[in-house]
Amino acid sequence: MRASLGIVLVALVVPAIAGCAGNPPPSAPTGGDSASMPGMAGAGGMAGMSGMGMLGHAPPGPRTPIERSVVGLPPSRPSQEVRLADGASFDLAAGFVAHDPGVGHALRMLAYNGQVPGPTLRMPQGATVAVRFHNDLPWNTTVHWHGLRLAATMDGVPGVSQDPVPPGGDFDYTLRVPDEGVFWYHAHVREDLEQGLGLAGMLVVEGPERQRGEGPREVPLLLSDLFLANGDVGPYFEETVVHTLMGRYGNAYIVHGARTWEGTAQPGERVRLLLLDAANARPFRLQVAGAALVEWVASDGGFFDAPRAADSVVLAPGERAVVDVVMPAEGQVGLYNRPTLTPLGFVPLATFRVQGAPVQDAGAPPGPHARAAESLREALQHGRDPVRVTWDLDMRMDMLAFGGVPHSHTSPPPDVEWEDIHQAANALSDLSNVAWIIRDNATGKEGMAADYHFARGDLVPVLLRNRIDAMHPMDHSFHLHGQRFLVVSRNGQADPNPAWKDTVLVPTGGEVVLLVAMTNPGTWVYHCHISEHMEAGMMGQLSVA
Ligand code: C2O
Ligand code: CU
Repeated sequence: MRASLGIVLVALVVPAIAGCAGNPPPSAPTGGDSASMPGMAGAGGMAGMSGMGMLGHAPPGPRTPIERSVVGLPPSRPSQEVRLADGASFDLAAGFVAHDPGVGHALRMLAYNGQVPGPTLRMPQGATVAVRFHNDLPWNTTVHWHGLRLAATMDGVPGVSQDPVPPGGDFDYTLRVPDEGVFWYHAHVREDLEQGLGLAGMLVVEGPERQRGEGPREVPLLLSDLFLANGDVGPYFEETVVHTLMGRYGNAYIVHGARTWEGTAQPGERVRLLLLDAANARPFRLQVAGAALVEWVASDGGFFDAPRAADSVVLAPGERAVVDVVMPAEGQVGLYNRPTLTPLGFVPLATFRVQGAPVQDAGAPPGPHARAAESLREALQHGRDPVRVTWDLDMRMDMLAFGGVPHSHTSPPPDVEWEDIHQAANALSDLSNVAWIIRDNATGKEGMAADYHFARGDLVPVLLRNRIDAMHPMDHSFHLHGQRFLVVSRNGQADPNPAWKDTVLVPTGGEVVLLVAMTNPGTWVYHCHISEHMEAGMMGQLSVA
């Protein structure tokens, strides 16, 4: 264990690159503007909503590290699959466990029902399921059902859809699941801390074929990471969110609760990987090696019109991909992360050893693709409608806290930011010195102050602009609650892979046009799914009547 951890940690050490606190670019803006942090009201509002401390742009206040002892904690249990029929009810509790993610000793982590990750819940499309939730944490929490088009009062956003569930409290969630697909659930209070330490699980809604037991064997893999320092997770504080600049990138990968996942498959067998990026900040570029055939069959909440070949699949925090892998006659098949900046270039995440009697691949069941094609065709008729809403992704930082140097770009970087390339500045950042902004371009209103009303049934083209002239531009993972959307184009290029989604990567300097189907009444938030960016204010709301 020790040895393999060492190797992976080496693979994740990124050479320090001159960053925010380094040499000033000649064009660096100066003056008091940035230091006065006019945008911090947004961050204060968010922190208030999270119920865990009040933060403004005043100097950083006290920092109380969270308890780290594992003494007296129950050991974690392996993640299980739970099948819930229409009308079923299920008990879900959040609490602490002692869990060893493969570092050689147990860490104080969080779990749903004692499991890391939380149980994978499976339910038939169209079902209604009751979840009786209990909070065993010393903090407020809620459960958000990411991607489900459920009732707005069940969406788990404190201050918008419900009050936070206090320590010792309960909340009854009613889940309605109209769409087949791979979804997930996670804490929506202090996501950096609660989701980051383990409060996340997968939720699979099964279409008619799967309900009849047809289709390939499915393997859910919740991908995440942990930032480890001195044998434990790096510091978390009760009062403030840290690593708000880049988000908390981990230095150790966690695959479904452990360092790596290992399993077996028969020669010729088709295995369906259900992949979720549940990390706080880390994007993944996933690649399968050694397979006879790899097909990408679905995105977040929806199938493509047909299975497609894919060399690699990029997932930003919150996104999912469903990838079919047909096993070779012998040998092994590996799932790897391929971030370009790591010295070793690839990181093994999961391995299938191929063994046993050969089987014949029957192909991907065509039903889900045919149904998807029909609903996509209808929506895409509106794909060229004029943009109705433009959201600018921007930020403010207190330059004095970072040595007075912004990290501006003049052109988009060549690739996704696979690693935390500004570790020193990131370590200094918190809610007092960084504010992330999502701004309505028409009114200039920021964050929760913006106000949109749409009619049920509207198909709304939305332009997301990730401002290259931001003080510190970086990739964001945009997520909208309670509705679904299609990606129409990226930087003016039509999206070749339309599928219903709820989360999308918006690269630095990039422009992404979405077609949002406003189908679900209520008030819903949209935000960056980098936990620390959301906590630092990058969230707004809209309503559908
Ligand atoms: Cu998975 Cu508001 O998020
Ligand atoms: Cu972000």
